[in-house]
Formats: sequence, structure tokens, C-alpha cells
Amino acid sequence: MGKTILVTGGAGFIGSHLVRLFVNKYSDYKIVNLDKLTYAGNLANLKDIENKPNYEFIKGDIVDATFINELFTKYKFDSVIHLAAESHVDRSISNPLEFVMTNVIGTVNLLNAAKATWTQPTTNRFYHVSTDEVYGSLGETGLFTETTAYDPHSPYSASKASSDHFVRAYHDTFGLDIVISNCSNNYGGYHFPEKLIPLSIYNIKNNKSIPIYGKGENIRDWLFVEDHARAIDVIFHNAKSGSTYNIGGHNEWTNIDLIRLLCKVMDKKLNRAEGTSAQLITYVKDRAGHDLRYAIDSSKLQNDLGWKPSLQFEEGLEKTVNWYLSNEEWLNNVTSGDYQKYYQEQYVKR
Ligand code: NAD
Ligand code: DAU
Repeated sequence: MGKTILVTGGAGFIGSHLVRLFVNKYSDYKIVNLDKLTYAGNLANLKDIENKPNYEFIKGDIVDATFINELFTKYKFDSVIHLAAESHVDRSISNPLEFVMTNVIGTVNLLNAAKATWTQPTTNRFYHVSTDEVYGSLGETGLFTETTAYDPHSPYSASKASSDHFVRAYHDTFGLDIVISNCSNNYGGYHFPEKLIPLSIYNIKNNKSIPIYGKGENIRDWLFVEDHARAIDVIFHNAKSGSTYNIGGHNEWTNIDLIRLLCKVMDKKLNRAEGTSAQLITYVKDRAGHDLRYAIDSSKLQNDLGWKPSLQFEEGLEKTVNWYLSNEEWLNNVTSGDYQKYYQEQYVKR
């Protein structure tokens, strides 16, 4: 067997797509998935690969330093691809400390364990999967590049910016081989229905209102999740130590235009008259500190490593809707318990 790779947060949205890609593509790697299984982590996301011989799941918390140190000593990981995080901006506004614990302390625990265990730093790689939100907010023009100054606004983005800084500090101070990628908004299957696209699909399906924050004019740059997983694969295997890559879809949408398009797709799929789903659109109180616009310049990744997005947004969105409509059991399971109270009863109409 070749490398043993620790993937953290592999039971989450992006992590599960990445674990699936690596387990299927690299039969000579052993992929160890470490995940705490918070509300966002779900082993049902990995049902199709759970019995593969090159895959192992471990339940655990990256905030527990003793546990992490023992794990590194036992498994002698060759590399780490670190995705475990609290990932939802709205939750970071109601509970910032949880984001500091997992996203900052958890990352430093992993860095410390790597530093202590890895005797040949040049052959061991620590890859931090990060976000474009560290760059703050754009005005009407311009794109985030790898040299854009960090300017995070939400507790979530501040915690990710902090963890990026720690990862770079361990490279500069201790010589750890590190790579960071900063990606734009992902969409696709297995996305927990708290984020804009899966929440809206769930609500339209169930004839519930679609909450649009503020005027719906905020802009995000959407990328199909499997394209993100492919980018991580390319960067992990080819990037120079200490480097950063931006990943994005060149696919900017205002929230309201995106939701109008989604409503049309849903009307068709659910055999409803055109315009039915759009009646569910409800403007609600804006998110505090809501960043206006994110847009990524991914030319470094495209030129250096030959990656590019594979799907047009319309195609990816239809694929995503099809996934949710044919995975009803998954959707019912993740929306049981206190989901209704947490996500459906909190909105204040404008
Ligand atoms: P997610 O919320 O779907 O998954 C996060 C996973 O981490 C879950 O499985 C959860 O159980 C696990 N986890 C949380 N706290 C943990 C802890 N203390 N110990 C161990 N496991 C823990 O998130 P996602 O959307 O898949 O994002 C994955 C990573 O990618 C995050 O680091 C996020 O910042 C980054 N990212 C996300 C996006 C996006 O659009 N979703 C874009 C760019 C970057
Ligand atoms: O840019 C990358 C980031 O994208 C990731 O780092 C985060 O982990 C991920 O959650 C995502 O953050 P956003 O805040 O952009 O995603 P979200 O789906 O929460 O919101 C997308 C946009 O839609 C944003 O402008 C807020 C708005 N929105 C969101 C929700 C949940 C609404 O108008 N209504 C909603 O109900």
C-alpha cells in the first residue's frame, strides 16, 4: 500500500465527495476519514464506499489534542487533507466560540501533531481546504487573486483566515510542507439543507417559503462540488510547498437570479405550472455583516496545473435538483429532529 492520507471532515459535504474520489481513484492509498459527525457530518454520504479495503472511518474530535497526537503516532499518516470545520456563516454569528474551537484550535492541534510526527517534512504534506471568504467582500468589479489581502468579516471567515495564517506560520517557522486552497461557494449532492441552494430545494419541494436575505442582490461565484474535489486532487499532487491556489467557477449569480432559475427548474421537475415555486420567495431580514460579492480569479490554477470547471451552471443545478429529488430518504433523515425549529422558524419577514 502507498500513502496513508488523513482526511478530516470526510463525512461532510465536500469531504465526502473528496473521500469518494480518492478511494475510487487511488486504490494504493489508504484513506482514513476522521470526523466528529456533528449535525453536518453524515456517514450515509459515504455508503457506496464504506466497505472498500482502502477506506477507514474514525469518529473523533480535532479539538481533542491528546486524541489527535495518539492518532498520528498510531497511523503514521503521510499527509493530511484538512476539511473539518464549522462551515455555516449564520451559525458563526450565533456561536462564534464554536468556530474558534474547531476551525482554529482544531487546525493548530493537527499542525502540532504533524510537526511532532513528521521527521521528513518534505515528503509529508499538510493541505488546508479554505474559503474565498477570507478575502472579505468585493465591490461591483474585480476578482479575488492569491495576493488579495485578507479582510474577513464574519466569525466564520475570521476563524478560517486565522487557521490559514497558522498553516502558513508552520511552513515559515517549522518547515512543514503545506498547501492552501481558497474556494468559492460549492453546490451539489450531500449538501446540508442550511445553505442557500439545498435549503431552497427542500423548501420548494415542501411548499415552504424561500428566505432571501435583504434584497437578494448579494453575489456568489458557484462551483460544482465534484469540480472542487478534482481541484484538490490536482493541487495536492502537484502544488509547490508553501503555495496557495484560488478555486472558483467563473460563475457569478445574484442570490435572487439564482433562486428564480432554481424555481423554474423545480417547477419543471415537480410538474408545477411555471411561476408556482417563485411565489414562495420571501424577503427576510438581512444577514449581519453580509458580504456583498465574492468572485474568484482561478487563472493560476488553470495555467499552472491545467484544471478548469467541467460543468455549466444550468447543467450542474439540474443535476443537483435531480439528486435531491431522487434521494428523498437522505433528505428526510437530515431534516428530522430539531431541524424544523432551527432552520424553518427563525426568519423575520422584511
Ligand atoms: P460541512 O459543514 O458540510 O462539513 C464539515 C465536516 O466537518 C462535517 O462532517 C463535520 O462533522 C466535521 N467536523 C466539524 N467539527 C469537527 C471537529 N471538531 N472534529 C472533527 N470533525 C468535525 O462543510 P463543507 O461545506 O463540506 O466544507 C468543508 C471545508 O471546506 C470547510 O473547511 C470549509 O471551510 C471549506 N469550504 C467550504 C465551501 C463551501 O461552499 N461549502 C467553500 C470553500 C471552502
Ligand atoms: O464562499 C465560500 C463559502 O460559501 C464557504 O466558505 C462556506 O462554508 C459556505 O457556507 C458558503 O458561505 P455563504 O454564506 O456564501 O453560503 P450560504 O449558502 O449560507 O449563502 C449564500 C448566499 O445566500 C449568501 O449571500 C446569503 C444568502 N442566503 C443564504 C441562506 C441560507 C439567503 O439569502 N437565504 C438563506 O436562507
